[in-house]
Amino acid sequence: MNFKSLRDQIDSMMARDPAARSRLEVVLAYPCFHAVVLHRLAHGAWRRGWRLSARVISHLGRFLTGIEIHPGASIGERLFIDHGMGVVIGETAQVGDDVTLYHDVTLGGVLPSVNSSAQIGVKRHPTLGNGVIVGSGAQILGPVTVGEGARIGANAVVTKDVPEGVTVVGNPARMVVPKDKRESREFLAYGTPRGELVDPFLRAIEDLRGSVTALNERVAELEAQLAEREAEADDGGRPKAASSASS
Ligand SMILES: CC(C)(COP(=O)(O)OP(=O)(O)OC[C@H]1O[C@@H](n2cnc3c(N)ncnc32)[C@H](O)[C@@H]1OP(=O)(O)O)[C@@H](O)C(=O)NCCC(=O)NCCS
Repeated sequence: MNFKSLRDQIDSMMARDPAARSRLEVVLAYPCFHAVVLHRLAHGAWRRGWRLSARVISHLGRFLTGIEIHPGASIGERLFIDHGMGVVIGETAQVGDDVTLYHDVTLGGVLPSVNSSAQIGVKRHPTLGNGVIVGSGAQILGPVTVGEGARIGANAVVTKDVPEGVTVVGNPARMVVPKDKRESREFLAYGTPRGELVDPFLRAIEDLRGSVTALNERVAELEAQLAEREAEADDGGRPKAASSASS
């Protein structure tokens, strides 16, 4: 894991968590950051065949963060696990880039454990495409594929493939059409459109963001008008407003 990858990881977490205030806060106080860094170390050891060291590092990560990622699991760039506690990612799970998981999510296996040695190397955990969002408490079980950009609702139980870009909820998970029928692939905190935010603190932040954007646009507009008038004055002409007033 190089410096750029670490910085991308931190920045992506800040972009996806409305409560994150600084990079230092993410480095010091976000279990996801610690879990991902320790997983990179554990996975490196696992691939070199240092299985016991890998398991010990992974166990340390679990102890510190409450996030259990098997060292054999393949994790893409910029994984964000919000809150973290109770997340389990199994040995043959594959997680794409820019995936978001909330607490208590399981990417688990389903093969019977009667002959566990027969399971070694067998793909028995899910594959998540890029940009997937998995709500808190959701269980995705078995070697299923969740397509790019799909959203899994809180507490859903998924045991079948999920197509790209859709939303599934419930147990067993079924597809639903979100109220806003959004086409946008932008990340939405909690997988939920702005209008559905129920946390008053998040609403206040969103309102402030909106006001700051509107103010910035207004300032840019006024600066452009001012620059135009100064250019006209430099040319020896009179400002447009004055000339139109006299005509
Ligand atoms: C699945 C999810 C992404 C859908 O969000 P959305 O686009 O706003 O969808 P809508 O609210 O329009 O819901 C569409 C339908 O699914 C139902 N639904 C939504 N989430 C559901 C859930 N987790 N379980 C069961 N049903 C759910 C809605 O009631 C609605 O049903 P209806 O059509 O019969 O009225 C969102 O509800 C969700 O579960 N996000 C995860 C949030 C989370 O884990 N937060 C943790 C923060 S700490």
